[in-house]
Amino acid sequence: MLSKALRSNRTNSLMNEYSSLLGDAVLRNRARTAEQAARIESELASRVKSEFIANMSHELRTPLNTIMGFSKIIANQDDRRIPPDEIVEYAKLIYDSASHLLSVINDILDISKIQSGKFTIDARATSIEEILNYCIASSKTEAVDAGVNLINKISTPLPPVRGDAGKLKQIFANLLSNAIKFTPQGGEVIVEAVATTDGGLVVEIQDTGIGMTEEEIDIAMSPFGQVDGSRTRWREGAGLGLPIARSLVDLHGGRVNITSEKGKGTVVSVMLPSRHQVSAMRGLERVLTEDIGASPDA
Ligand SMILES: Nc1ncnc2c1ncn2[C@@H]1O[C@H](COP(=O)(O)OP(=O)(O)OP(=O)(O)O)[C@@H](O)[C@H]1O
Ligand SMILES: [Mg+2]
Repeated sequence: MLSKALRSNRTNSLMNEYSSLLGDAVLRNRARTAEQAARIESELASRVKSEFIANMSHELRTPLNTIMGFSKIIANQDDRRIPPDEIVEYAKLIYDSASHLLSVINDILDISKIQSGKFTIDARATSIEEILNYCIASSKTEAVDAGVNLINKISTPLPPVRGDAGKLKQIFANLLSNAIKFTPQGGEVIVEAVATTDGGLVVEIQDTGIGMTEEEIDIAMSPFGQVDGSRTRWREGAGLGLPIARSLVDLHGGRVNITSEKGKGTVVSVMLPSRHQVSAMRGLERVLTEDIGASPDA
């Protein structure tokens, strides 16, 4: 009887010892896993941060260096006489770099205004056809330079929307620029626009470019997010065009949807509500400054 009791005590103490060892091992393992996760997260954050800083300083410094370099050459005419056609060429390069710099700075200011909730739009009855045709015509040179076929498949007539013409141009110019930029030579970019039965419309910008995975679309939609943020990436940019475009569409009461397949291409759809629906939105009413042209109830 006694030996049975002793055996049971021994078993209990072995069990206790074993469970305490097991508990320690589990805790140690958890601590190690948490430590590893924190290390990976901080390495990733610091890589993203350095990529961001390297990328932004490149975006700002490159045009500034061009401006300074060529204006210095022109200013030093006395040391080396420059033929007039060369001066014109340098002036064009200076102008292009200054325009690029201005657009990067404007994008940074826009995104900070959007993030602080202070961005407003000036909504009026607007012809989306005119805006799309203007954006397609303005992107023609970019497409020709990139060897991309830009095709206009807009179904007319389209209903007028209630929106801010300047901001709508900004949205479609950004989306078209992406479609062209991320489509290799020989590819296609198609712009389609159709009226929906509820009086709104859908604009689709399709490309046969490099495409994105679902995770990459999430990155692309976030401010400064670029799928390939490294300095070796094959296209320039600050990573602001898409998030700004999405926020501007939101301000118009619309929606942006992206479907994409890696290596196949991307379709960006912009849904804009009918001007009657927009008029009914209280949030937008607040930012209406003036409404010339057809009245919303017309
Ligand atoms: N049509 C597309 N096809 C493939 N990738 C795209 C497309 N559009 C956007 N992306 C990806 O999303 C990222 C973010 O796009 P976004 O327009 O915000 O920035 P960007 O074009 O790099 O720079 P920015 O527009 O500020 O000049 C791009 O860097 C690219 O990786
Ligand atoms: Mg862009």
